[in-house]
Amino acid sequence: MTTISIENAGKFAGEEVTLKGWLYNLRESGKLLFPIFRDGTGIIQGVCALKENPEAFEALKGLTQESSVIVTGKIRAEQRAPGGYEIGVTSIHVVQRVPEGTPFPIQLKEHGVDFLLDHRHLWIRTPRQAAILRIRIDDQKAYLTQSGQLYIEATAMALGKVYTFGPTFHAEKSKTRRHLTEFWMLEPEAAYVELDEIMELGEGLVSAMVQSVLQNKTRELETLKRDTSKLQNVKPPFPRISYEEAIAVLNKQGNPTKFGDDIGGDEETIVSSAFDRPAIVHRYPASIKAFYMQPDAERPDLALAFDMLAPEGYGEIIGGSQRIHDYDLLVKRLRAHNLPEEAFQWYLDLRRYGSVPHSGFGLGLERTVAWICGTEHIREVIPFPRMLYRVYP
Ligand code: 4AD
Repeated sequence: MTTISIENAGKFAGEEVTLKGWLYNLRESGKLLFPIFRDGTGIIQGVCALKENPEAFEALKGLTQESSVIVTGKIRAEQRAPGGYEIGVTSIHVVQRVPEGTPFPIQLKEHGVDFLLDHRHLWIRTPRQAAILRIRIDDQKAYLTQSGQLYIEATAMALGKVYTFGPTFHAEKSKTRRHLTEFWMLEPEAAYVELDEIMELGEGLVSAMVQSVLQNKTRELETLKRDTSKLQNVKPPFPRISYEEAIAVLNKQGNPTKFGDDIGGDEETIVSSAFDRPAIVHRYPASIKAFYMQPDAERPDLALAFDMLAPEGYGEIIGGSQRIHDYDLLVKRLRAHNLPEEAFQWYLDLRRYGSVPHSGFGLGLERTVAWICGTEHIREVIPFPRMLYRVYP
């Protein structure tokens, strides 16, 4: 079954398709249900009749607002429906049902401005707010600064597939050729996407960046005397190795890193030098990774996290993961990490209302450009580098 986005529904008139999204509203009229679904790209009205699709009817009847759903049905033109098309629902899979006892706070009625701003992380799911953000995103402007990850998880639940790109500030006391205190990070985040798919996105992004530079910046690469033969290979598939395999490679080379240790800069160089293109290292020990990372179902001591290591000793250019979507597990993790639960209530809301598996990553622009240009130090690839001991000029 083809998975489509609602904005393109018209192109599939007459076809049976699948939509992945959330239930925005439900009108019940005896043996007919009129749900409205949203998926981040728009809204579409559905129709479901008890007589024709009793199973879907039962699944949908009484379903709470913002429950996450995967819907299959036939698209047909319907002038009276918003957008001009509707979906005749044949089957429905409820990914997460919002409990009756804790209904979605933003109801289809007037709310005060303060209430809406307190619930901004959920308010952005309503059609008016989502439309405004789509216009702002379509304008190619970044709208979040610093590391926006936790916030773009909220926007991913509102818009489906999102990214933020802007200056990021890391107050790390690292004085290496790979560290800046202010750098630019590109962070995509996507609903209904799990580890394998987000690794593929990273692979596609990096190969597209490199191939585009090779094609469009020949003269500049010549000026830099960059050995471009090393960049030609940067095409999918990139090798994928697990953290445990990486440890084995290190041990074989005489490096004493053991399970539970971080893979530092020197280790990254050893691991990546075995390959002629970026390598993706995945499934790190949960104990050394962030609280929000989804554990591997088969090995709960491992986090579904990944790093992409550039070849030629340039080290990590991408870090990302699948995020925990289960409410109880996330609460457990917040407690285990001694994080203030109160401050994370809005983040927990994303797991209360239509929670779905989702993933994202951060790509460091300067590390990527330093590798592509073959520069010795990252400080040359940003106009005004900010480092541990430099804020001038
Ligand atoms: O692995 P990091 O720390 O990931 C995050 O911050 C996640 N919240 C991102 C996400 O999942 N949305 O950083 C991601 C990338 C690194 O792989 C590296 O390329 C770059 O950001 N980076 C730095 N670049 C220059 N100087 C620094 N101090 C950097 N710290 C990270």
